[in-house]
Amino acid sequence: MSSLCAALEQSFGDKLRQVLGDWGSVALFVSTKDEKFGDYQCNIALSCAKRLGVKPRELAEKIAEVLRSGEESCFSEITIAGPGFINLRLSEAFLRAHLPAAYDGGSCALSSCGKEGTVCGFAPRPETVVVDYSSPNIAKQMHVGHLRSSIIGDSICRVLSFLGCRVVRQNHVGDWGTQFGLLCAWLMDHTDASQRGDVDLSNLEALYRQAQALADEDPEFHEQSRRRVVALHNGDAETIATWRYIVSKSLSHIENTYALLGVLLQSEDMRGESFYNPMLSALVEELQQRYPAGSRPLEVAVSQGATCIFMYDADGKPLFKGADDEPQPMIIRKADGAFLYPTTDLAALRFRLTELKADRVIYTTDIRQTLHFQMLFQAAALMGWLGEGQKLEHVTFGTVLGPNNKPLKTRSGENVKLADLLHEAVDRARAVLKTEDDQGQPRFSEAEIEQISRTVGIGSVKYADLSQNRVSDYVFSFDRMLAMEGNTAPYLLYAYARISSILRKAPDSLWQKAEVAMADPAERRLALHLARFAETVEGAAEGWRLNLLCDYAYSLAGLYMKFYETCPVLSASEPGLREQRLRLCDLTGRVLKTVLSLLGLDVVERM
Ligand code: ARG
Repeated sequence: MSSLCAALEQSFGDKLRQVLGDWGSVALFVSTKDEKFGDYQCNIALSCAKRLGVKPRELAEKIAEVLRSGEESCFSEITIAGPGFINLRLSEAFLRAHLPAAYDGGSCALSSCGKEGTVCGFAPRPETVVVDYSSPNIAKQMHVGHLRSSIIGDSICRVLSFLGCRVVRQNHVGDWGTQFGLLCAWLMDHTDASQRGDVDLSNLEALYRQAQALADEDPEFHEQSRRRVVALHNGDAETIATWRYIVSKSLSHIENTYALLGVLLQSEDMRGESFYNPMLSALVEELQQRYPAGSRPLEVAVSQGATCIFMYDADGKPLFKGADDEPQPMIIRKADGAFLYPTTDLAALRFRLTELKADRVIYTTDIRQTLHFQMLFQAAALMGWLGEGQKLEHVTFGTVLGPNNKPLKTRSGENVKLADLLHEAVDRARAVLKTEDDQGQPRFSEAEIEQISRTVGIGSVKYADLSQNRVSDYVFSFDRMLAMEGNTAPYLLYAYARISSILRKAPDSLWQKAEVAMADPAERRLALHLARFAETVEGAAEGWRLNLLCDYAYSLAGLYMKFYETCPVLSASEPGLREQRLRLCDLTGRVLKTVLSLLGLDVVERM
């Protein structure tokens, strides 16, 4: 799979360079929004004319000449408009040659997407991308704030695989720190050995609060927990075993939520903060030695007892400043010797660059961590950690709001638990499902009702999130996300189910060999949109504008509905037309399923 723009560039890029010289980074071909300007435009004459000292219109004539000259004709119409815009209409042959290819179960070389009933992805490329996402702190409930990281990060992974990259998922869970000392003390010093197995570890946050309260009122327990923190840090075998037990129990609850949410994260993707703990003291010492106080552009200096990284620009001015205009440090060791979040992230970054061989590392967290990642990336750059082509990206997102436009909370003001929210979505989807036909007969079995409600409910939560501009806050509304009309998951899933229903009525497979219908304007519009799928995925990956995939799916469903209204499929009269239209339906269904799968949504055959 490759994009139409790229295919056109490849056909004409070199020939045009002979006429125009180099035109820099401007796109040669751009898709048009309005079909009265053709399918694509080439507006390069306007930007090159001045440099070449000719009139734009004359240059456009020359360019049009080149565009007409290809061996196989890419365009059925080339017109020059205004001061030098060139409007291009793709030829049918070219359009046909660039329709996405149906994925047929593994025999296709470009099977990066790899699901039955989808379309093929891009050719594999030798790029390894580490994606750090979800990454909850396990001593706390996974709440709605982790929803966005999980959904967005997962979609990023899916898009990258589809583009042919090698993806390494990393769940940087917070599984280390003093809270765990307290939790160990609760289990080891406060609970009878025989009852340890009964302690509910599904909600470490609640347990931690309980333990904290006890430590506050009982000096003996306070002392026990202090000793457990030390024992944990010193690697005491029994304490470590208890910590492991707590973490693994808690992770299994998180994994249930992942399974419900349908994200790709597996237990082997978990590499929590604790993994890097043994590397931290050597790392800090190494940095102290390499960048002693006074080094530029980066120094490791002690400030108020804490070990800090300070960074400077070429003029020796601090790169980061606090509110008081003082240089802002990245603290890597507290005065009491404890390491911090940035210390772990430095170790993790080095591990990802060297051990995981990342060409790119992507971090998905909310926007409040912007400064942390700016400092981390800057420090890595100044220390020369980034080899040729290695890139770091922080993909941020806004807050999920409640109906009052404040961060979403429960009525009693608690954080909304992610699992509760997802279960409610499924329940609500079940409630609106039409389970009986017009004769009052059941349409589905119990198992089907379960599966459909789950797909629709979870899909709606994900889609509502991904269809927003990523960096904006958004108001969480079940009513809106479950609506059957508009740019919602139910609307798209319903469109997919309708396509499936037509294909079920045409079980003979003759049509699978037919050409895709393109003669009617409604058919051609749909086919053109299908052919633009590849460049839509590329566009969405640029700056991670995943909402572009949603917009694409929404337009696709709309164009399909229009086609379906004007072009009878099963009852098409002319010979062969029925088959061609079925092919168009099939390809539309496959592309819709593929784009939904890139967003992390499953489809249903009936709903
Ligand atoms: N555990 C952190 C939190 O919940 C997110 C971790 C993001 N990843 C990282 N490498 N810092 O805020």
